[in-house]
Amino acid sequence: MSSEPLYEEIFTVEGKDYMQAGAVSIEIKKILERLGFPPETTRRTAIIVYEAEMNITLYADRGQIRLAAFPDRIQIVIEDEGRGIEDIAMALQDGFSTATAEMREMGFGAGMGLPNIKRNSDEFSISSKADTGTTLSIMIKPELEQPS
Ligand SMILES: Nc1ncnc2c1ncn2[C@@H]1O[C@H](COP(=O)(O)OP(=O)(O)OP(=O)(O)O)[C@@H](O)[C@H]1O
Ligand SMILES: [Mg+2]
Repeated sequence: MSSEPLYEEIFTVEGKDYMQAGAVSIEIKKILERLGFPPETTRRTAIIVYEAEMNITLYADRGQIRLAAFPDRIQIVIEDEGRGIEDIAMALQDGFSTATAEMREMGFGAGMGLPNIKRNSDEFSISSKADTGTTLSIMIKPELEQPS
């Protein structure tokens, strides 16, 4: 694996900042497009980052999204400070959600965020500590583009 990143940046996300929510995903999508990653790679990464930043907004106090793009992979580490996830296996199941009535009114709470993150990742790991926070570590492998 090559060790020189094409691009690195750390983004911050504040809990409960609904106005800002989704902005990091849009920003990272632009960066990856500019770097010339295949559309499918960029699309998968944007979904992952969107779902993760929504989860920080809804369920954590604050967090960081660290992007490192290499020619052969995109690495994303999402680390938050907050209440953490009590039962990770349960949180990863399709449809599991602790979203409040208020969050559901805003359109969240289908319980599909973490399953979607996992599905769109080529490597995925999650760890969490109660009353401390949650860390997701993700690798996305670029699709091979068809020669035109
Ligand atoms: N960063 C986090 N900190 C604390 N709890 C979290 C975090 N991310 C997810 N969770 C917990 O895991 C559950 C499942 O998360 P997931 O993203 O799959 O679904 P959701 O956010 O409830 O709904 P959706 O993402 O479909 O809007 C959440 O309801 C919440 O209880
Ligand atoms: Mg979610």
